[in-house]
Amino acid sequence: MAFPFNTEYPSIESLRERAQKRMPKFAFEYLDGGCNENINIKRNTSEIRDIQLKPWYLKNYKDSHLKTKLFGIEYDAPFGISPVGLQGLMWPNATEILAKASLKHNIPFILSTVTTSSIERVSELTEGRAWFQLYNPKEDWLRNDIIQRAEDAGCPVLVLLCDVPTFGYRPKEIRNGLAMPPQVNFRNVLQVLNRPHWALQTLKHGAPKFATMEKYMENGMSIKQLGKWMNATFSGRLNAEKIKPIRDLWKGKLVLKGVASEEDTQEAIKLGFDGIIVSNHGGRQLDAGESTIKPLSRIAEKYKDQITVMMDSGIRTGPDIARVMSSGADFSFMGRSFMYGVGALGEEGGDHTIAMLKMQLQQVLEQLCCEKVSDLPNFKIS
Ligand SMILES: Cc1cc2nc3c(=O)[nH]c(=O)nc-3n(C[C@H](O)[C@H](O)[C@H](O)COP(=O)(O)O)c2cc1C
Repeated sequence: MAFPFNTEYPSIESLRERAQKRMPKFAFEYLDGGCNENINIKRNTSEIRDIQLKPWYLKNYKDSHLKTKLFGIEYDAPFGISPVGLQGLMWPNATEILAKASLKHNIPFILSTVTTSSIERVSELTEGRAWFQLYNPKEDWLRNDIIQRAEDAGCPVLVLLCDVPTFGYRPKEIRNGLAMPPQVNFRNVLQVLNRPHWALQTLKHGAPKFATMEKYMENGMSIKQLGKWMNATFSGRLNAEKIKPIRDLWKGKLVLKGVASEEDTQEAIKLGFDGIIVSNHGGRQLDAGESTIKPLSRIAEKYKDQITVMMDSGIRTGPDIARVMSSGADFSFMGRSFMYGVGALGEEGGDHTIAMLKMQLQQVLEQLCCEKVSDLPNFKIS
């Protein structure tokens, strides 16, 4: 059988292991960690895997395919790339590597406000197909300017984030100085010296910058000033008053990311959102909350006919994607899985990870004799 990826790394876990050996420790821990006691980062995946799908081998069916329509666009698979901040710090040029791979494989790529390539650059790389995730700026003029740039760049979907009303308490980031304001300390410098390939690639591509936000910042800000500037510029607390002007301004599809309750879903429907991403930020914000698959099941059952319901957090394999789709999601997203791929394999990492996940999911569909993703058997968490 021919595999469309490097067979040395046939799973996200094998990519994660290699990424750990190639990324400086502080960067790997920023990517890999959850928050507080790391409860939900584990539970997100383990509770998805409690779902067991029933095969029907003698069913007559033709071939399986993964094509899935979302907001009127046909994608080649029912999964996309979640927004991740500071990607270029974890692996140089990571945002661009993933944006290019998303175009090649025709899956959605969501660009974070606080990552290291700009809206304009990513739009160019994805031929205007990338979605944009907005951290809500405190100042109206800044919010309007960023939204205008996303519109000019042709973004079809704007994603608002609601699950960062305050910072996530992440002990490893606090120790590593990656909490705001970030610090350059002796320990971090030593870790870079231990990862020469990462250091060389960083020299080649230049120090990572907040590329979309750069034009609003003063030249030559120190790292400490930068952290303070970010805190002063954005407000993670969303409410109806802040959302209404965005809905009025944005003509494309609008998605609320970070929903974990029926109450927020109802409010999203009232406020005119086209979709929600049920998510607990990959277990990085509220460790005392539920794993994401639980609210997904309830929300999809009640509201799927009123709003598009997507999910991220904890998905690491093709079978995980199948389980999530069986629980009622219209689409799924992953954050860390793709970043492990890039950390492990650099330029090849995006292509490798998407091709591998497609193959794993295709295999599950064939095992279950499903022609398309929407034929997956329904599963309800009790
Ligand atoms: C290192 C890291 C940075 C992230 N930065 C952002 C961000 O800037 N904006 C955002 O909406 N979500 C951000 N997220 C959350 C992801 O979009 C996504 O919800 C999460 O990674 C999904 O969980 P998974 O990693 O288990 O797939 C980040 C996640 C990680 C791991």
